[in-house]
Amino acid sequence: MALYSETVMDHFLHPRNVGVIEDADGVGEVGNAKCGDIMKMYLKIENGIIVDVKFETFGCASAIASSSMATEMIKGKPVVEAMLLTNKAVAEALDGLPAHKMHCSVLAEEAIQAALEDYERRKAE
Ligand code: FES
Repeated sequence: MALYSETVMDHFLHPRNVGVIEDADGVGEVGNAKCGDIMKMYLKIENGIIVDVKFETFGCASAIASSSMATEMIKGKPVVEAMLLTNKAVAEALDGLPAHKMHCSVLAEEAIQAALEDYERRKAE
């Protein structure tokens, strides 16, 4: 069996939603201390709905594919739904990740959570 599913390869080679949102409502940046990979997530939120999302990932193929898939999964969705997104759901949507690459999908979950926390913080100001 190939190491990566076709879906992982597709999202790695053609990542969706790559880039920066200059006037983002929430920005989250997380890193994995072990491998040194970094992921940054930008959210544009209107009336509690994530109307746009972009990411920048300095990382491995699984991290890039996970960020790409995660952005697709939360785009157009209510904030409350995005809060519940787990790395397991991202990995499942990618038709699986090799066991030793599951931690890469954790970055996507954490980056979205960090961006949502930033959004909540800004709202409270
Ligand atoms: Fe670092 Fe994949 S090896 S996120």
